[in-house]
Amino acid sequence: MLLTHATLATMTGGYGLIPDAAVAIEGDRIMWAGRIADLPRAFRDTDPFDCKGRLVTPGLIDCHTHAVHAGHRAAEFEQRLQGASYEEIARAGGGILSTVTATRAASEADLLATALPRIDQMIASGATTIEVKSGYGLTVADEIKVLRAARRIGVARRVTILTSHLAAHAIPPEYKSRPTAYIGEVALPSLLAAQAEGLVDAVDAFCETIAFSTGDLEPLFARARALGLPVKLHAEQLSDQNGAAFAARHGALSADHLEYLSSAGITAMAAAGTAAVILPGAFYTLRETQIPPIAALRAAGVPMAVATDLNPGSSPLASLPLAMNMACTLFRLTPEEALLGTTAHAARALGLTDRGRVAPSLRADLSVWDAGHPAELSYRIGAPPLHARIFGGRLDA
Ligand code: NIG
Ligand code: FE
Repeated sequence: MLLTHATLATMTGGYGLIPDAAVAIEGDRIMWAGRIADLPRAFRDTDPFDCKGRLVTPGLIDCHTHAVHAGHRAAEFEQRLQGASYEEIARAGGGILSTVTATRAASEADLLATALPRIDQMIASGATTIEVKSGYGLTVADEIKVLRAARRIGVARRVTILTSHLAAHAIPPEYKSRPTAYIGEVALPSLLAAQAEGLVDAVDAFCETIAFSTGDLEPLFARARALGLPVKLHAEQLSDQNGAAFAARHGALSADHLEYLSSAGITAMAAAGTAAVILPGAFYTLRETQIPPIAALRAAGVPMAVATDLNPGSSPLASLPLAMNMACTLFRLTPEEALLGTTAHAARALGLTDRGRVAPSLRADLSVWDAGHPAELSYRIGAPPLHARIFGGRLDA
């Protein structure tokens, strides 16, 4: 396949813009990208896909979602509008735990069926790789069920799915105030069982006063690393728990949320090469006022990814371009940082080296936009201007 007359954002060294570009693809790989004038003879094609000047970017990567879950939490949204806080609702047994009740009652087939429309929205917004977490099962069997449903998405749709084990997302009522017992009796055994079934790409956890402390999580992260699995952490979302530094100590791929991140946390992340995943959808939904320390992360050279955090409580958001818009408007990322955040840096946050940029030998996942400049993707609010999507070297039908 050959794309011609593209305004190509390669995402190497910033946008890495190439005007009037061509991209040559063989199988599921990019073979060549550059100016049409320089296209090697071997890659010329009599029937190219003419982009007519449209922007072409790497396929977008959503590196943090909870896309598999049952039910919704519109009632909780109404409670928050009446003044209840996310933490108050969680402490009263609502929040994550209400989705746990619904998810436990759902079958694997139900979970797949309800996830697919969300995934279709994400695909229609230009995503080609999506990370999906467990964390609404909280028993060994239910965590496995969620991870199996998540993996089936990648068979049902033209998208790459990566799965993160997030049994340490909340403490279920049967383990109330017994986090150590929960980690030992559910989180660790579910990790071993899921790993044995090949269902785990990374291990995640929620470090917060309403969830787990770094001390609770130590044995889980130690075991993950012993299994050769990378870790990541929901850190410093509602308060500073020194989660990012703990994650960095375990060589984490990413620390996510980070509204209350300290300068010590930033230093630890920079030293460990841990990426920052910025989740403006949760900030917006919870009407948070503490902005993550973007300028300090930038100054420290910490790669920043941007994701939807798609979940039924804090971020019912399925559009990466809208997350990019929020990252710019609410957090002052530049549109270039926002696009790096959903391409090259999102790949980094998932430990993927074969995608996120447009360069020879990388996977041929590309999004073609009804836009002429990459800043337009962040500038528009909603209605992502996707024109076409190429997944694994093939155009969507
Ligand atoms: O990333 N912070 C914890 N987990 C999710 C929220 C999950 C929920 O509220 O259902 C998040 O925001
Ligand atoms: Fe999350």
